[in-house]
Amino acid sequence: MANLTVNYMGLKLRNPIIASSSGLTNSIADIKEFEEKGAGAIVLKSIFEEEIRRELEKDINKMNRANFLYPETMDYYDTYASDDSLTNYLKLIKDAKQTVKIPIIASINCVTAEKWPYYAQNLQDAGADALELNVFVMPSNFEKSSQENEKVYFDIIKEVKKHVKIPVALKISYYSANLGAFIQKLSNTGVDGLVLFNRFYSPDIDLNNFEILSTNVLSSPRELSISLRWIAIMSGRVGCDLAASTGIHDGAGVIKQLLAGANVVQVASSFYKNGKDVLVNMLDDLTQWMDQKGYKTIDEFRGKMSQEKATNPAAYERMQFMKYFAGKGL
Ligand SMILES: Cc1cc2nc3c(=O)[nH]c(=O)nc-3n(C[C@H](O)[C@H](O)[C@H](O)COP(=O)(O)O)c2cc1C
Repeated sequence: MANLTVNYMGLKLRNPIIASSSGLTNSIADIKEFEEKGAGAIVLKSIFEEEIRRELEKDINKMNRANFLYPETMDYYDTYASDDSLTNYLKLIKDAKQTVKIPIIASINCVTAEKWPYYAQNLQDAGADALELNVFVMPSNFEKSSQENEKVYFDIIKEVKKHVKIPVALKISYYSANLGAFIQKLSNTGVDGLVLFNRFYSPDIDLNNFEILSTNVLSSPRELSISLRWIAIMSGRVGCDLAASTGIHDGAGVIKQLLAGANVVQVASSFYKNGKDVLVNMLDDLTQWMDQKGYKTIDEFRGKMSQEKATNPAAYERMQFMKYFAGKGL
């Protein structure tokens, strides 16, 4: 029987399928179910940098209460700054660690490296096995150069790594002027893993009501090819582990990403669409395929189809359809 264990950022996983950060990884009941269905690890729903900053401001105000301020001033803060999302998040980590055996990866949505990174230590102290930083800087500010936008990612990883010992992954998008070089540089910062790629709410327009809507909240299996291409191109050329994310809906998607060179895969939309049972099918498909091909471990075939190792490496860089369509009457 095939051995599915993998190593991701120094964590030993029983298999390479991780439940990606989403609304489905935000409660102990769901986390428990993911473990029962076979998940290798879980990335918790992200907490926002803003939530952390807000809580820290509250702490500063509490310190002021002790020393300088009038009690009624503090009542104001207690009333209007009573968001306890951070406390709840730390509790979620603690409870998850007590309930399941598989690794729990805490997640932070961040857009700056200012003020909050030292707080990451509290997530580590609550028991998180690793951290995933979901960073996105929308390159829509015309005043900023691409270097300025990209600097934020390097600053964040540098600051967070100063404060934690647990492994840290950076989850990024493919919005970069020079994506391959950007990924490679990030991978050499001391970050332990890169998650390629996050996926965002996409805008749409309601023609009747002239409203901007969000569309396609969940991915489709057709979207697999974007991360597949970049996992394949970057495999063997990075200084950290790679997690594939977006468009992995079935066992075939899992196997393709491993062949491209991913250490692990992350899945969200397929769980929303098909239920958590799809995990069982993915694991069955992976095991059966490995048995059929005679592979005993994942390492025996991981990266076999990466750009570095494939017999037709240029296929991953081909952009134009001309030749393909020429002979097919399209
Ligand atoms: C409803 C929903 C909520 C999500 N919330 C988060 C989040 O809090 N943090 C994060 O890093 N990614 C979040 N994601 C993105 C997923 O983790 C994943 O990267 C993305 O959906 C692409 O993978 P998929 O094709 O398997 O869905 C969310 C996705 C969905 C559908």
